[in-house]
Amino acid sequence: MSNKIQSLSGYIHEYQKSVNEPEKFWARIANSFHWHKPWDKVLSWSSEGPHVKWFENAKLNITENIFERHLFTHGDKAAIIWEPNDPKEQNRIISYRELYELTCQFSNVLKAQGVNKGDRVIIYMPMIPEASVAMLACARIGAVHSVVFAGFSSSALADRIIDCEAKMVLTSDGNFRGSKNIPVKAVVDEALEKTSTVEKVIVCKRTNAEVTMVPGRDIWWHDSIKDQSLEHKAESLDSEDLLFILYTSGSTGKPKGVVHTTGGYMVYTQYSFENVFQYEQNDVYWCTADIGWITGHSYIVYGPLLSGATTLMFEGVPTFPHPGRFWEIVDKYQVNQFYTAPTAIRALQAKGLEPVNPYKLDSLKVIGSVGEPINEEAWHWYHDHIGKGNCPLVDTWWQTETGGIMISALAGITPNKPAHASLPLPGIQPIIVDAEGNELKGNNVEGNLCIKFPWPSMLRTTYGDHKRFKETYFSAYPGTYFTGDGAKRDHDGYIRILGRVDDVINVSGHRMGTAEVENAMNEHPRVIESAVVGFPHDIKGQGIYAYVICDQEGISNEALIQEIKNTVRKIIGPIAKPDEIQIVPGLPKTRSGKIMRRILRKVASKDISNLGDTSTLLNPEIVDQIIEGAQIK
Ligand code: WTA
Repeated sequence: MSNKIQSLSGYIHEYQKSVNEPEKFWARIANSFHWHKPWDKVLSWSSEGPHVKWFENAKLNITENIFERHLFTHGDKAAIIWEPNDPKEQNRIISYRELYELTCQFSNVLKAQGVNKGDRVIIYMPMIPEASVAMLACARIGAVHSVVFAGFSSSALADRIIDCEAKMVLTSDGNFRGSKNIPVKAVVDEALEKTSTVEKVIVCKRTNAEVTMVPGRDIWWHDSIKDQSLEHKAESLDSEDLLFILYTSGSTGKPKGVVHTTGGYMVYTQYSFENVFQYEQNDVYWCTADIGWITGHSYIVYGPLLSGATTLMFEGVPTFPHPGRFWEIVDKYQVNQFYTAPTAIRALQAKGLEPVNPYKLDSLKVIGSVGEPINEEAWHWYHDHIGKGNCPLVDTWWQTETGGIMISALAGITPNKPAHASLPLPGIQPIIVDAEGNELKGNNVEGNLCIKFPWPSMLRTTYGDHKRFKETYFSAYPGTYFTGDGAKRDHDGYIRILGRVDDVINVSGHRMGTAEVENAMNEHPRVIESAVVGFPHDIKGQGIYAYVICDQEGISNEALIQEIKNTVRKIIGPIAKPDEIQIVPGLPKTRSGKIMRRILRKVASKDISNLGDTSTLLNPEIVDQIIEGAQIK
């Protein structure tokens, strides 16, 4: 049943097969799952549409492949280990059988509250097991979940509810994050004032915060499950039925709803999980992401649970109540695979070795990185001090759109190279292209990263806007999926990701569209125009630098800057708050009125040595004024 690759030669062999005969390859992998009805065709692909279908006309339920497939063999095994924000609080260990029952019970709740196949359900919840139950229950009845990171503001939440016309919102009374107690239900209430489709809100008790319950609309989670059976017959779904929508930032202002479907996503997340992490049946695996991001979907919930793994879910933050919390948890549960983001590594590295030294960390077999390029310094610190020099470090490159890990070492199987994502997984055909779209073959080449052949967990569309899907991903290089990232293939053939080449910045591993932040700033009544760029930041990878033209009458710079930052926090959420705001008299523009961001990026990076030709600007004098304002020494 296992499709785990065991050796380097095995990888080379599998990779070749996956490229030579992709359909035969994926059919073999998919055969180890439980399908109600087999597929008529493994892959239908037209780059014109573009339209892609995997396992066409097959019928299945992803949760049966998590539960029914595993219950006989390991019903009593821990599915989720939940570690609370406050270490003094009781943890929870939930077996596969218990998780199955909770999922069935909540599936019955959803049905009883009028949610049907195809309906959209927003999940705006903290990192508690009920959030996973909510996702799985949606999947069991065929409803489409859309998890919204619980740090987003009410207006960001409202935008997502409106875009997918959600029928229900699942939330909690509050959310513990470090020393904070965040009133999430109030955020939902505010969001719902702007929307009209939501009929019911189910509220899970977590912090015991006082909340307002709207009669007829709001129901407590614990009341809703009271008389519901612990059994539920899973809906038989089409392989291409929607599993979830996850909103992510792009080059334009409005976040897009990335759509993933059932069959292909199931096959790929399980296959990639088992191979990248080389998970063995008694291992404890921990991914520190939040379920509000794709990493949480694919590698806290679906990939591990489909593999029958024990997946650790941590409610809190790395530094609460002390900066050794991550390592304490690793020792406490004897974690074998640990998967986190470079920003967390850099933040912990900055605290020195004192918080690390008290812990053994000797259970670790594999350590992983995701979300942004990992710099060599952080790579070595992580490898030497956490992995103790003897754990493979898998630097996994992928995206919300790809559904699963695309380029990564397979732990202990394919070689590790610092700061390199390294080699593609079987079935993945990355290419590096020049500006004209010519494939740069061979080694020692640098350009834009594309994927030239479909893979099972690729996004199918952007929700409600197929044209945007085509324009965003398939128009730069027709027929080929464009990732938005730059990459280099080094002299040994290993791929190194260089970062985004579009107007997306990566702040602490979170994607932010520069236009999205600009739109939010422009909501401030004093802001006339703004431009946002990324700049190198020691901990966050990239920080947000904003240039704004303002009406400053009667207000100090500092007060205005603070107000603008708060506006962004209110409209998007704290993660989008600019690190630096510079008030400027104008923005450098080309004669056609386009902002010359190249110059703004250089100034924000405090590197003005090579600004290039500015004489063609409409307003060349503005450049010196901006440099002066930035106070670069
Ligand atoms: C970046 C997160 C370098 C990249 C799974 C990509 C990475 C974007 C890596 C997707 C990595 C992700 N090395 N860069 N290992 N992993 N990225 O959609 O720019 O939140 O396009 O998915 O993160 O971010 P997203």
